[in-house]
Amino acid sequence: MIIEDAAVAGQERRAGGYYLLSLRSPKLAALARPGQFLHVRLPAPADTLLRRPFSIFQAAEGEVRILYKPVGRGTHSMTALQAGDVLSVIGPLGNGFPPPAPGVHPVLVAGGYGMAALYLLAASAPRPGTAFFGGAGAADILCVPEFEALGWKVIIATEDGSLGARGRVTTPLDAWLSASARPRPIEFFACGPNGMLKAVAERAAAAGARAWVSMDRSMGCGVGACLTCVQRVRAPNGEAVWARVCKEGPVFEAGSVVWEEIE
Ligand SMILES: Cc1cc2nc3c(=O)[nH]c(=O)nc-3n(C[C@H](O)[C@H](O)[C@H](O)COP(=O)(O)OP(=O)(O)OC[C@H]3O[C@@H](n4cnc5c(N)ncnc54)[C@H](O)[C@@H]3O)c2cc1C
Ligand code: FES
Repeated sequence: MIIEDAAVAGQERRAGGYYLLSLRSPKLAALARPGQFLHVRLPAPADTLLRRPFSIFQAAEGEVRILYKPVGRGTHSMTALQAGDVLSVIGPLGNGFPPPAPGVHPVLVAGGYGMAALYLLAASAPRPGTAFFGGAGAADILCVPEFEALGWKVIIATEDGSLGARGRVTTPLDAWLSASARPRPIEFFACGPNGMLKAVAERAAAAGARAWVSMDRSMGCGVGACLTCVQRVRAPNGEAVWARVCKEGPVFEAGSVVWEEIE
């Protein structure tokens, strides 16, 4: 983990109201692992004590990139960043995704920025698998060309039916899981809204497959000190214990999460 003042290498607007922010940092790019995140100090005028977490989308050629959507004061202030501006960043943080187990067909399930959070895993997997992307409409489906360029099969669902199957991402996922000719064994890797993660955990349990989920929690310090981000998980002895999403997570084995407490 390092703290760095990283220069903005560039920023561009992407589909769906997202922004792609590139930061020049050979050290962060070399250290970044799939599923880890950066904790970013907001630029003025929104500069507050609390940083904001963003998954590392890409790390290459001395740059780290994040794909973010302006949703509030902090992320709106980031949209004004230009090449040459400097941003204080802590990272890479958290326990990310493990590599797919040998011989499994990896299955990615993503909603929202989860598509960006899973890219490094897709790029480093020993062989491409199947990715299920879901969103409210076509504009919410991100990074499809990037995943297809890596050889992944991308299957899309949108709630308004404007792209792919109509419905939630579980609609095509359930159809795929029940097809007798699908690849076996499989392992799930998921990032998105908590309801979607819970649905993936249920399907993984039913299919007898392992699943890894990246949990989204509001964060304070980002480094394990403030306990803002806690989530209950089961210890190996079955006891429910508190885990810090920023430190022990954000990625957890789905079977260890106490889902009953998540809406
Ligand atoms: C590990 C992790 C990785 C993340 N990666 C990304 C990413 O790659 N791209 C991206 O766009 N966002 C990502 N987020 C969410 C991002 O951190 C929030 O959108 C951001 O902190 C909002 O800051 P703000 O000041 O703009 O909004 P605020 O003013 O703090 O909040 C504005 C609105 O956004 C909601 N909000 C705040 N934080 C979150 C959150 N964590 N999740 C969902 N809603 C939130 C609030 O409830 C409120 O409705 C990630 C969050 C976590 C925990
Ligand atoms: S954000 Fe402070 S402990 Fe996780």
